[in-house]
Amino acid sequence: MILLKSRQEIEQMRAASTIVAQILDEVASRVRPGVTTAELDALAEELTLEKGARPAFKGYTVAGRVYPASICISINDEVVHGVPTTKAVLRAGDIVGLDFGVCYRGYFGDAARTVPVGRVAPEAERLMEVTAAALHAGIEAVRPGAHVGDISAAIQDAVEAAGFSVVREFVGHGIGRNLHEDPQVPNYRTGARGVRLQEGLVLAIEPMVNAGGPEVYVKEDGWTAATRDGRLSAHFEHSVAVTGNGPYILTLP
Ligand code: MF3
Ligand code: CO
Repeated sequence: MILLKSRQEIEQMRAASTIVAQILDEVASRVRPGVTTAELDALAEELTLEKGARPAFKGYTVAGRVYPASICISINDEVVHGVPTTKAVLRAGDIVGLDFGVCYRGYFGDAARTVPVGRVAPEAERLMEVTAAALHAGIEAVRPGAHVGDISAAIQDAVEAAGFSVVREFVGHGIGRNLHEDPQVPNYRTGARGVRLQEGLVLAIEPMVNAGGPEVYVKEDGWTAATRDGRLSAHFEHSVAVTGNGPYILTLP
């Protein structure tokens, strides 16, 4: 079931999404060698509560498994859903995916970005640039009358033209009064056009891109997805509303 949002609801979602973007900025600014992912999680949670919002991921349950933290932090070969821990200490040369969402006054915002820890290898730099560019190529496909499949194709083409691969197991999604709503937004062609985009649809578009092959596995913690081949992965996400004028990116600070 597709739930369309009024202009007023989209402004409420913009408020939730602004909080997400501001907190991601703050967390990203604290990324440096020696910091643990548990420290970054505590910061994200504290800032969320300060703003009168609620962390969207904490307590989120998939197949009986409860996500235990406020933010997902995925390092290097980790793709998504990395669980913060005092054992994960950031080191210079790492790349770190920060995926964060809040619920504010009944509406959700969801965004992600991947940032370097100090100086990183040229391939890591290029992977982050290509993934961010793929997200923006997907966003540029957003307009009334286009289809979800146009977003998927634009992302896949941007990634594969750079020689990288798109993760299949995780996809973007509708967002609103729920963190995950219909439709799914794959980052690759599925053979279907997908639903037609219309004003009031709000989508979380979130390519996950691997430097090597697309295959992933889930680690023993039951959450953290990582690349099969151990090579790097990057993740960028924005919550985006479809308007008559095209895409309205909600998760900008
Ligand atoms: N951005 C991710 C998503 O939309 C975050 C979910 S994290 C979870 O699926 F841990 F809460 F599942
Ligand atoms: Co999401």
